[in-house]
Amino acid sequence: MDHLMPRAAVVDGLGSCLPDRPVTNADLESFLPTSDQWIRQRTGIASRYWVAPGTGTGDLAVAAGRAALESSGQLGADLVILATTTPDHPCPATSPDVASRLGLGNIPAFDLSAVCSGFVYGLSMARAAIRSGQHSRVLLIAADTYSTIINKGDRATAVIFGDGAGAVTVRSGDPGEPGELLDAHLGSEGEHAGLIGITAGGSRMPDPVNAVDPGDRYFRMQGSQVYRHAVQRMTESSRTVMRRMRWSPGDIRAFIAHQANQRILDAVGDRLGIPPGRRLGNIHKVGNTAAASIPLAFAAAASENIVPAGSMTLFTAFGGGLTWGTVALTWPQIAQAKTLHLAETGALPAPTAK
Ligand code: UT7
Repeated sequence: MDHLMPRAAVVDGLGSCLPDRPVTNADLESFLPTSDQWIRQRTGIASRYWVAPGTGTGDLAVAAGRAALESSGQLGADLVILATTTPDHPCPATSPDVASRLGLGNIPAFDLSAVCSGFVYGLSMARAAIRSGQHSRVLLIAADTYSTIINKGDRATAVIFGDGAGAVTVRSGDPGEPGELLDAHLGSEGEHAGLIGITAGGSRMPDPVNAVDPGDRYFRMQGSQVYRHAVQRMTESSRTVMRRMRWSPGDIRAFIAHQANQRILDAVGDRLGIPPGRRLGNIHKVGNTAAASIPLAFAAAASENIVPAGSMTLFTAFGGGLTWGTVALTWPQIAQAKTLHLAETGALPAPTAK
């Protein structure tokens, strides 16, 4: 590349991974006071996947990362970002282990904690890392296993969340290439931090076993309040990026919003005026997979070849923190975007980095 040309950050690889075990609404009916009808009507979810005991976020992250590297045709990277709020351990970060298991060498690797906005935050960071010239190829993985932090007896969260991982590779390229990350807008509002999260297990209340309220050890969410913030923030942030890009709703060929709840997706899409056929997603099959939800929908759509490379694309997300963000890009040229199930990945031997 001519060193005088501005660097562009270009998505050139995409992959994802789901656990092997689907958990249907009928399965949930067997141990929770809920119904298939309530879950479908209120959330649009029919099934989701939960990891088997002992499987960690890092296992899904390695499989998704590997699928993304393979789909790009280039097995190396010089930075790994893992967006997750369910790391394998409180300390250290999961990403160095993931980078090592992928055979990527002694490259920098860090976890990014932005709850369900993690993938969009990560895309923004990857874009900046490449455009600054500090890195030339970033592996961004978004992986979460909320089944490990929810109280499976709490119907307010257990019916919504699923586990999964999605990943992209972002490389230095030329402006105008399909997959270029064109703009990013991020935001946060900490005064509402208490609406989503886990109270115990951090520095303020280190010992969850001795917490006054046993529920403090689990992930909790004030659902209906979060719902309103999610619709408002994803709509506003998308409008900001559309205005900056000078994109009208009819220009957008692919719109993927964080798959929190089908009703939220409908409300955001309707407010923005995005035609329903251009709103992509698979929440009915995977549930709310937190940071992984956008790349899981992205990989599913890419594998169906329904969006032409170069099409105007918008991703928008909202999550705990509160955090939110939107990224504008063009649809990448992806030879093969795979969604693997964990069992298909075998023993996950590390690939040889080029
Ligand atoms: O991903 C990060 C951000 N997260 C989100 O954006 C999630 C946002 N929130 C939501 O998606 C929705 O608020 C929920 C799906 C969590 C809940 O849906 P809702 O329509 O807001 O229900 P609600 O909490 O207002 O409850 C309505 C009724 C209540 O009964 P009453 O008081 O009307 O008799 C609940 O007790 O539905 C009841 N209910 C259930 N019934 C059957 C709540 N959960 C369930 C359930 N099964 N799982």
